[in-house]
Amino acid sequence: MNLRAQLVIEDLQGRLKSAPALLSKKEKALLGRYSKKVKVGALEIGVLYGGSSSIITKFLPSGVMLTAIDPFTANGKYIHGDLGCATYFVEKYGDIKKIKFVKDYSYRAVKSWKKPIDFLFIDGHHSYQASKDDFCSWSPFLVQGGFLLIHDSNKSYFDNDLTNLNGFDGPTRVCNEIKERRSEFVLLESLDSMNVFQKIKNRANNEKYGNRKKGI
Ligand SMILES: C[S@@+](CC[C@H](N)C(=O)[O-])C[C@H]1O[C@@H](n2cnc3c(N)ncnc32)[C@H](O)[C@@H]1O
Repeated sequence: MNLRAQLVIEDLQGRLKSAPALLSKKEKALLGRYSKKVKVGALEIGVLYGGSSSIITKFLPSGVMLTAIDPFTANGKYIHGDLGCATYFVEKYGDIKKIKFVKDYSYRAVKSWKKPIDFLFIDGHHSYQASKDDFCSWSPFLVQGGFLLIHDSNKSYFDNDLTNLNGFDGPTRVCNEIKERRSEFVLLESLDSMNVFQKIKNRANNEKYGNRKKGI
């Protein structure tokens, strides 16, 4: 880690009692509650500085791992992760033994993924296409009873666009489409900008959904 990053971290450390995460207090508590329930494996898309990864690893039962995927590289104007910061913060506030960072884009990492998971936290690129691809490509790995958490997915028409407090169009549209079209998922709770679903059955191969070119 370079000196500048070190100074930024030390400055943040003085002001923060936990790793920086783009999550509300209630969302942090929710993340902890669901992390405690994981038995098979947890997967996170979108690490940033390791704030959410710290919480998840802190509460995961022992012996259970979090795979945390982020390209950790600048991608146009979009906010991007920092592996040095994430490692530092997970060491300090989470449990570094329970995490495997994957430096890649979620849509590439999924091509070689084979393991079942029972916790999937989607908080990567927030465009509709990327959120939809994350849901469609990763949710088949969720076992029955597994949890799907989608951040920034409660945008309402009344939100002030400048704050984005409750979410963005992409993840919000994906959540609405899951509620409408994916009977294998039930909504367990919706808190601030987070929606939590549980997979209650596996999807039958012949199950058809709305116009798949337009929606999920
Ligand atoms: C909103 S931030 C994640 C915040 C983090 N979960 C937290 O609460 O502390 C979004 C992250 O997604 C990452 N990202 C963007 N596109 C991605 C992709 N296709 N796959 C995985 N991560 C991606 C960015 O690099 C950025 O770090």
